[in-house]
Amino acid sequence: MPDWEGVRLHVVSGKGGTGKTTVAAALAMALAADGKRTLLIEVEERQGIAELFGISALPYEERRVASVGPGALGRSGTRGSTGKAGREGEVFALAIDIEQALLEYLEMFYKLGRAGKALRKVGFIDFATTIAPGLRDVLLTGKACEAVRRKGPDGKRHYDAVVMDAPPTGRISRFLNINTEVAGLARFGPIFTQSQAVMRVIRSPETAVHLVTLLEEMPVQETVDGVAELRSAGLPVGGVFVNMVRPPLLDEAAILASDGDHREELGLALADAGVGGRPRGGAGRSVPAATRKLVEPLLAQGREHAARVLLEREQRSDVQALKLPTYELPLLSGGVDLGGLYRLAAALKEEGAA
Ligand SMILES: Nc1ncnc2c1ncn2[C@@H]1O[C@H](COP(=O)(O)OP(=O)(O)OP(=O)(O)O)[C@@H](O)[C@H]1O
Ligand SMILES: [Mg+2]
Repeated sequence: MPDWEGVRLHVVSGKGGTGKTTVAAALAMALAADGKRTLLIEVEERQGIAELFGISALPYEERRVASVGPGALGRSGTRGSTGKAGREGEVFALAIDIEQALLEYLEMFYKLGRAGKALRKVGFIDFATTIAPGLRDVLLTGKACEAVRRKGPDGKRHYDAVVMDAPPTGRISRFLNINTEVAGLARFGPIFTQSQAVMRVIRSPETAVHLVTLLEEMPVQETVDGVAELRSAGLPVGGVFVNMVRPPLLDEAAILASDGDHREELGLALADAGVGGRPRGGAGRSVPAATRKLVEPLLAQGREHAARVLLEREQRSDVQALKLPTYELPLLSGGVDLGGLYRLAAALKEEGAA
């Protein structure tokens, strides 16, 4: 069973620049395997999703951005297959435009018709979201919850899962805790009713708030603090996604030995391998000068790498201490293109995140 069976709204937060947008996209793809349909939502009006998928800016409508064919993420019929394996999964994306969301919303409750356009012209929308910043968040989270609850004519959910590329850790609790925001805004009426409905979805077991981190001190600390804050706000904490993980290049013995003096040993090994020339003589072998020059810089790199591996190990144990489901995503050399997204999605599926 995948870890988040039953979760329909995946909120992806984390420190800025750690890979929230990338991880959200990969998760939406992983969740779409086995013939499922998922929606990836962007709320910050930055068109990061379009950029990631290499398409022109997303309009304010749900667009198909990727398909996940059987076997596209490795073994088909993997965990969580629900008998629909063998069918193509689909990923849709939506970049929420706050103005249009507000108009759509007003239209729904007040049947504005053409008056909506006029409101936009007079700058009412800027005005409304400026005097009531909480309104903005209600609109954004409200749209995500609407997509989660939407049903087709057959009574089945339109999307199997919705993944939100959300604001960073520092703002996430406040962003999701719209009730407290709205309390100062409306105590009755449609906005109040809507925010109650949204809060019910967000606090339910159907929602999970995931945090993306790197194996570095600052992002890990932010993750630890973020988990505590989400918990105290009564928001459902999901998993930790450790991004950009580099494979260790040295084995355990080499790491432990990295602070010793290995100049002679390394020089001979390099020379034996024919790097910079052949070693001279039999018993009293000596290292050629050209090889000797390589020794110090190589050892320095090795020591640096070993030190980083040890630091990462510390950070990893801090992450493990949170006792949350944790997933590791490899650092892709050359950045993330569509092929890279499939690789990350495959890793997530393999680790049971979807
Ligand atoms: N696993 C990875 N391997 C290699 N590069 C990565 C990986 N994950 C993310 N990146 C790169 O790191 C950069 C930041 O990623 P991304 O935009 O997803 O982060 P973010 O947390 O959404 O940033 P922001 O806080 O600005 O929204 C991007 O250039 C992205 O391509
Ligand atoms: Mg982003």
